[in-house]
Amino acid sequence: MTSRGGFSDKFGFIAAAAGSAVGLGSIWKFPFEVGNNGGAAFVLVYILCCFVLCFPVMVAEVAIGRKTQKNAVGAFDVLGFKSWRIIGVLGIISGVIILSFYNVVSGWAFGYFIEILKGNFEIGNHFSEFTADITYNSFYSLFFMFMTAYIVSRGVSAGIEKATKIMMPALFIMLISLAAYALTLDYAWEGVKFYLIPDFSKITMPVIYSALGQAFFSLSLGMGALITYGSYVSKENNIIESPVIIILATVGVALIAGLMMFPFVAYNSSGDMTNIPSGPSLIFVTLPKVFESFGAILGIVVGGFFFLLLSFAALTSTVSLLEVPVAYIVDEYKTNRTATVWVTAMLIFLVGIPSMLSAGASDFFTNFITYPNASKATDFLSFVDDVANDTFLPLGGFLISVFTAYFWKKHNLSAEISSGNSSYAGSWVETLLNFAISYICPTILGILFVLTVLNRFFGIVI
Ligand code: PHE
Repeated sequence: MTSRGGFSDKFGFIAAAAGSAVGLGSIWKFPFEVGNNGGAAFVLVYILCCFVLCFPVMVAEVAIGRKTQKNAVGAFDVLGFKSWRIIGVLGIISGVIILSFYNVVSGWAFGYFIEILKGNFEIGNHFSEFTADITYNSFYSLFFMFMTAYIVSRGVSAGIEKATKIMMPALFIMLISLAAYALTLDYAWEGVKFYLIPDFSKITMPVIYSALGQAFFSLSLGMGALITYGSYVSKENNIIESPVIIILATVGVALIAGLMMFPFVAYNSSGDMTNIPSGPSLIFVTLPKVFESFGAILGIVVGGFFFLLLSFAALTSTVSLLEVPVAYIVDEYKTNRTATVWVTAMLIFLVGIPSMLSAGASDFFTNFITYPNASKATDFLSFVDDVANDTFLPLGGFLISVFTAYFWKKHNLSAEISSGNSSYAGSWVETLLNFAISYICPTILGILFVLTVLNRFFGIVI
């Protein structure tokens, strides 16, 4: 354990990093992205992105963090490449943007927990009124930011590890049970077909951009969160094995969440998958109806637990998002950790106010921007979500792969990975990883980044 604090063991890191990864991204966002992007084809591209493009970047991030024992910005100074701090700076900006809106959605999840406890299953039909209610929402977001700040202020291992080790398995069990139940419902097969049988004609370029953004977002990648967490990992840890477990856990949760959602959606719509609720409201509209059908007591218990576990999964992610700027400020400016945590958290809460207003409370933020070629306006929350996920994170991933392969250099990456993994040097894993980080990731991520920007913000489709 270093003086900066560190994870107590291998499972501590895996638990915390998987806690960061598994969150609203897998349970709230993944199903609606699947819905928006044509179903199973998206799922397939998402899985490919996770393993082919994200895995090498994840190993590189963790290796950079562990090598330098520094935050996302300082790490590049320690390696002797001051100008590459830009990766960390971009990462901090992405982290602040993501946390600002993520915290708002986390507040919804927590608010739903309270409503379901009160037996208010009707809330699913009143989602837009719920999100437009600024009093409730600001209260829940503020509460959520407080919880996040409290955990981060207690430090990485004390605050993050313990809680994750209990709640993550509970979440898994909950999702698997709900998915098993969903599969027994009428029309379940219609949902499963939509979700799992790919129609390859639906793999268009915009689907690929969204899948890539979703892969980075769900794995907490491309913004230095894993450089930061990597800096708390001990030299004995195997940093090839841990990322594999983290990716499997995240993709596993996302896949199970989908397997639960689509049969429910199909059940609610009597098998009609042409006009399913889409966008951020999906789980919030669909699930309360399902819980209601369990009857009052069981509905409250299962529904309450579900939203509690969802809030918890969100909390282990908000914690990692806040940790990135905090580690930077504390490392570089030697400030007091507790004070830094609270001030940063409150500033990010303020940055989140427009997102909070964008779900009905303010017309300006609700209809914030109309993308070229789009028929309806996009709200502010979805807009910042798009900017951060589909552009900043893949850009971060691109820069990390270029930096690692051509500046830090592959032999340094190999040397770092070899610590804790004595059979790595000379193995086929090394050959593959080096190939991916030098050629596959830079080329594909670079091209996709340019195409995404052209498509999303300039309406140019290639
Ligand atoms: N991976 C988290 C989720 O899916 C979100 C996140 C993104 C967390 C980036 C940290 C960094 O919910």
